[in-house]
Amino acid sequence: MPFKQQALLRQKLFLLGSLAIGSLLYLVARVGSLDRLQPICPMESRLAPGLAEQFPLRTLQYKRGILHELRKGNASKEQIRLHSLVQQLPRAIIIGVRKGGTRALLEMLNLHPAVVKASQEIHFFDNDQNYARGIDWYRGKMPFSFPHQITIEKSPAYFITEEVPERIFKMNSSIKLLVIVREPITRAVSDYTQVLEGKERKNKTYHKFEKLAIDANTCEVNTKYKAVRTSIYTKHLERWLKYFPVEQFHIVDGDRLISDPLPELQLVERFLNLPSRISQYNLYFNATRGFYCLRFNIVFNKCLAGSKGRIHPEVDPAVVAKLRRFFHPFNQKFYQITGRTFNWP
Ligand code: A3P
Repeated sequence: MPFKQQALLRQKLFLLGSLAIGSLLYLVARVGSLDRLQPICPMESRLAPGLAEQFPLRTLQYKRGILHELRKGNASKEQIRLHSLVQQLPRAIIIGVRKGGTRALLEMLNLHPAVVKASQEIHFFDNDQNYARGIDWYRGKMPFSFPHQITIEKSPAYFITEEVPERIFKMNSSIKLLVIVREPITRAVSDYTQVLEGKERKNKTYHKFEKLAIDANTCEVNTKYKAVRTSIYTKHLERWLKYFPVEQFHIVDGDRLISDPLPELQLVERFLNLPSRISQYNLYFNATRGFYCLRFNIVFNKCLAGSKGRIHPEVDPAVVAKLRRFFHPFNQKFYQITGRTFNWP
């Protein structure tokens, strides 16, 4: 073979080889990130009862794309028309608590085929300007969904805002309310860390947590500090109970949602009267992030944004001890009202 042809052949072989190695490396990386890989369950069994009978299998497979788009909060005009998609008011709301794990809870519930999330925090009930825009404005902020699906939104400020329980009651007195809580001091420090990060981004200085949490004059816990006040869960819940019976609330353990999310999600599925569809397959631990991430299917998985899971500053143990003593009676009351014990220190 002439030398020129040989060189051409070598070049082609080299290109093909690189392509094969590249594809192999991609696959290895992909499977590596999908640790504990399991087969995907068939589409029909992932749908709420009734839907599988409503659509023949071929249609269901075609709809896989739509369900996925709906979960991402997208739907084209054509899909909306073709499948009679609707914007529905939420049948369940994650009302708080800020830094309790509200985003993780919403995203994880959204793994359920019968759930569609409102991606943004809408702040309809806690913001007077938004509230004045009326219920149709609120509905217009909701994602498109199939009529049998339930829409869920989350706005953590609802839990602590005075006017919200009455406003939600006026919209739907039988709505289901989800509250995700973490150990109160961890939550308060998480809250502080978020504000601190915001200040640092603007090159501003900020007080230490200890200075904010303890009143320098009395040496007592500073109940005027918002991060402390928000963690007095029972005080806020009591306001809500003036409008809704306790059975309409479900308390999610935010600390367990971090360490072992599936059992917590199964409790929520039961509370929402949904068939159990979220499985271990949908959740995988990402060692780099140090958190569970979400797997929708073999190609689509995601972790929460980097702003979730910040490193907290160390807090003076004497201040922690003081805060524990302060929160103890409120925590006891919270366990008593909700019927869920957390054994917080
Ligand atoms: P930290 O940043 O203090 O760790 P919210 O969404 O209500 O703002 O709550 C944020 C908290 O969600 C984070 O607080 C983080 O600990 C928690 N969280 C729970 N599950 C998570 C997950 N799978 N990925 C990232 N953060 C998660």
